[in-house]
Amino acid sequence: MAHESFQTVDGEINWNAPMYRLYEKAKKNGKWNPADIDFTQDKMDFDGMTEDEKITSMPLVASFSAGEEAVTLDILPMVYAMARQGRLEDTMFLTTFMHDEAKHTEMFSRWQQQVGVGEMELSNFHSDSYKRIFYEELPGSMERLNVDDSPQAVIRAATVYNMVVEGILAESGYHSFREIFKKAGLLPGILQGIDYLNQDEGRHLQFGIYTIQRLCAGKDENLKVFHDYMDELWPDAFGVVEYLTSLYDVQMAQDWTNSSLDFDSEAMKKYAKRQFDIRKKQVDRVKNFNNAQELDEQLVKAGTV
Ligand SMILES: [Fe+2]
Ligand SMILES: [Fe+2]
Repeated sequence: MAHESFQTVDGEINWNAPMYRLYEKAKKNGKWNPADIDFTQDKMDFDGMTEDEKITSMPLVASFSAGEEAVTLDILPMVYAMARQGRLEDTMFLTTFMHDEAKHTEMFSRWQQQVGVGEMELSNFHSDSYKRIFYEELPGSMERLNVDDSPQAVIRAATVYNMVVEGILAESGYHSFREIFKKAGLLPGILQGIDYLNQDEGRHLQFGIYTIQRLCAGKDENLKVFHDYMDELWPDAFGVVEYLTSLYDVQMAQDWTNSSLDFDSEAMKKYAKRQFDIRKKQVDRVKNFNNAQELDEQLVKAGTV
């Protein structure tokens, strides 16, 4: 597609654009390097864990690793769609987003390599629900943007990517990992990495919420696209959590299981449902605005993204 003009020559970057401000935040806060995280203690902890304790960590690692790889590989159509639409500030922010996801993928892969499970085949831990979301819906909705960047297609892409994968599943995953291993005083390296990831994901979620909101402001039919897709994906999003918690419950129910790890499966499922409700509520705040311009003005006024 030929360029007809350039924003920075006809004028300048919109320094107040919410996504430009998020880009500034990303430059400031997203400087961590996965290669700097010391996994020495993790290796010692892992070696000292019982076989059952090791097994408990594997389905979570399998979900995190493939999830980060999927979002690294699948973000590009969103970047291209924003660029094609001339949304310079959104595109600038997304360059940091892509880099973040690459670092997240690197972080988990490094950890697996350093504790000695790098060669292990873990895809058996991907349930049908996991496959529906990460193998099918996520790439499908993202790749559609290559041929269709209508508001409805962008909303669906941001819904599965930002709201479901990041806003429900990643958040629930971090929470369970902390619940299990922070409490047990194990694996400080990966827990530190997860803290960094969590901060990055906060910005990614803000991109998703903003993108869906600006396309839904004053357009109830678009807001319905968001809600319908959330509802459609929820059984599988919950299915991912339910499967992972059931593996733990079945393992712990065996007399021969030798594990000192402690985890509340029911609380975890409630946590995931709460994330689903929160994401819907966050996007629904758009009902206070008649159009995207009002939304932008309010964000500028409030000093938030
Ligand atoms: Fe990530
Ligand atoms: Fe992310």
